[in-house]
Amino acid sequence: MAPALTDALPTAPHNLASTAPRDIFPDGLKTTGQHPPLYDHIVPFDRFPREITGPTVWKAEDYRENPEKWTHRFTEEQVEELSIAADAFLASKTPLTGISKSNFTLPKLAEYLETLRKDIIDGKGFILFKGFPVEKWGNHKSAVAYMGLGTYLGYFVSQNSRGHVLGHVKDLGEDSTQIDKVRIYRTNARQFFHADDSDIVGLLCIAKALEGGESDIVSSHHVYNTLATERPDVLKTLTEPIWYFDRKGETSKGQDEYIRTSVIYLERGDQGRVYTKWDPYYVRSLTRFSDAGIIPPLSDAQQEALKVLEETCNRLSLHMILDVGDIQFLANSHILHARTSYTDHAPPTPRRHLMRLWLATPESEGGWKLPFWDSNEKKRGGIQVDDQPPVAPLDAE
Ligand SMILES: [Fe+2]
Repeated sequence: MAPALTDALPTAPHNLASTAPRDIFPDGLKTTGQHPPLYDHIVPFDRFPREITGPTVWKAEDYRENPEKWTHRFTEEQVEELSIAADAFLASKTPLTGISKSNFTLPKLAEYLETLRKDIIDGKGFILFKGFPVEKWGNHKSAVAYMGLGTYLGYFVSQNSRGHVLGHVKDLGEDSTQIDKVRIYRTNARQFFHADDSDIVGLLCIAKALEGGESDIVSSHHVYNTLATERPDVLKTLTEPIWYFDRKGETSKGQDEYIRTSVIYLERGDQGRVYTKWDPYYVRSLTRFSDAGIIPPLSDAQQEALKVLEETCNRLSLHMILDVGDIQFLANSHILHARTSYTDHAPPTPRRHLMRLWLATPESEGGWKLPFWDSNEKKRGGIQVDDQPPVAPLDAE
């Protein structure tokens, strides 16, 4: 018999909020990092909804000609409010990794950001801000204001083994064909449709490419409904816990180099929303283990699912371009995103540069009830290796 869909979570292995040492983690919170799912919360395909309804399901046609529905240009007053908060934070000499709502106060914007947060978590799942004055402020103040803004949407988590809580998406000339070692955000290669390892991802555009590097997003609930009609076999394959995801060496002591899981899950509890966690680069890169017979190679059905999922996302996606000073926030739970490959300007014009935030929304603060042990942790998800301290560099390293 299928396991019951219960609301219960096992007791967390440790209470991170009270044990993360402040000399390493300035806000007292440690990113929980990547984990296998709770396998008894992975349910068979026949328990999934036939069709998803509600505001998380949207079509590109709903928004393509109506950018005002998903774009917010900061008003002069809002820029001033962010500027005052950033200046006060800078004057306090607090490290950037210690920023929080309590030391970055936004008396007027807070209410708007609360409404926005709900729309990202439970609604259409995305927004494009315009008019963040990055050129006037420079990278340091921009980073402060951006991270400060982010604290109103979620807790920033570490994005890699180096503890970066402010990430830098930039071509560092790394070889994108070495997919078992190289993270694609450090290259100029195309990124296929995927979700990042956090509840919300933010991208602030500091500099654009000469050509390309454009963004595509899709409602994974619309993709789900489409596959349910056109290719239920593919959808079923995606719900099975037969997928191995590479950790590309970003593991703590004693952890496996990969995680076996499904691509599409159900949330715990009554609401039972469909949750997607996907990145084709991370399932394709494991041949070093499948060739050695340690894990199974991708089956024909999985290869087909990979292909059909990408094609379907492409067909249904909404295209957007990030200009300098634009910030895109997306929910990873029910949005998949991609970017086109790009070519940078020749020096001395700066290379394409996006500052990235990964934000966590714990269950107790309105986040989704994920089938992972850390669903209640403030800094759930992300990538954390051992006790690597968080760092917020102002440029790629
Ligand atoms: Fe991404």
